Amino acid sequence: MFTSTTPTTTTSSPDSPSAAGPAASSESSGSAGHTPLLAEESDVRADPGRYRVLTGDRPTGPLHLGHYLGTLHNRVRLQCLGVETYIVIADYQVITDRNRPGDVAANVHEIVLDYLAAGLDPSRTTIFAHSTVPALNQLLLPFLSLTSVAEMQRNPTVKEEALTAGISSVSGLLLTYPVHQAADILFCHGNLVPVGADQVPHIEQARLVARRFNERFADGHALFAEPQGLLSPAPVLLGVDGQKMSKSRGNGITLRATEDETARLIRQAVTDSERLITYEPERRPQVANLLLIAAMCTGATPEALAAEIADGGAAALKHVATDAVNEHLRPLRSRRAGLAAEPGLVQHVLRTGAERANEVARQTLDDVQDTLGMRY
Ligand code: TRP
Repeated sequence: MFTSTTPTTTTSSPDSPSAAGPAASSESSGSAGHTPLLAEESDVRADPGRYRVLTGDRPTGPLHLGHYLGTLHNRVRLQCLGVETYIVIADYQVITDRNRPGDVAANVHEIVLDYLAAGLDPSRTTIFAHSTVPALNQLLLPFLSLTSVAEMQRNPTVKEEALTAGISSVSGLLLTYPVHQAADILFCHGNLVPVGADQVPHIEQARLVARRFNERFADGHALFAEPQGLLSPAPVLLGVDGQKMSKSRGNGITLRATEDETARLIRQAVTDSERLITYEPERRPQVANLLLIAAMCTGATPEALAAEIADGGAAALKHVATDAVNEHLRPLRSRRAGLAAEPGLVQHVLRTGAERANEVARQTLDDVQDTLGMRY
């Protein structure tokens, strides 16, 4: 069913920034000649073949509507634009901020089904789990040598995560995961990373690793191009409890939920007691969130939906949101059910993805070891 394409590995892309020339020997953050941290959508559209996307998810639970509208949809769009895409299911990241991995195998399985149902095509997009690509993980060692402990301790995303998870003693894995993530990106010479704003510090980290590798180990030869982020155009959605919609919080409308479960979840959503429905994100965040969800699913504006519901109150609002979500997800959910019934499908996707990812990772690790003189 899936044809395997062998990706061409660019060990030294002609498009890579030229700043790693002999003059760029300072290891400061001087940025002359470097690509900007964030790519523009128009650049990608103008020349999709110049980009290789790497992005990923932690398998901590099934994907939800926020992922679909914010991330998955965007990945499928990039794939269809012709951008070569790699997606890492970051199983090792699961144990960065929790003591036990939970049912990681089941979570990986569900996420692959979510990907396929959303339209990611494994013959074009390489889907693999971290733990199945040893050469990728080995890149962490030289990359760690390029990163100071103080830098890792300053990473705002890591700090925030430790705080959210209520962790008082940060593990080595949590501290170093942004560098691991740099390995995720650089192993396949990914140069475009679609992310939420909270992950931007990780892209800066990956850029530093790439730049320093070139400067320190490769005499300025650009073995690694500095990756760019691509911010998701979709706003962050809230879950039914009014907090950010999140896999680990379990407050989201999952893609695999039934229509009844969706209705029940939305009925439980926290709102307020004002009867007249208005779109005021600052003053009425939960009401605005339901309007936004319905708007994103139907293509209407949240203001127009609010005007339609008018003094129908929270009950009418929830009705509108439920119908919008269920209708929007119906084709995806029906595709998902079909895929889930195909025996061995997920395993096949993961195995093919791992084969491709291993080939690319092995090549990159060879180049890295060559550069370091580690050839015996
Ligand atoms: N940290 C990301 C998340 O929690 C997942 C991820 C792993 C990732 N490796 C990556 C994202 C590399 C972008 C690039 O969702």
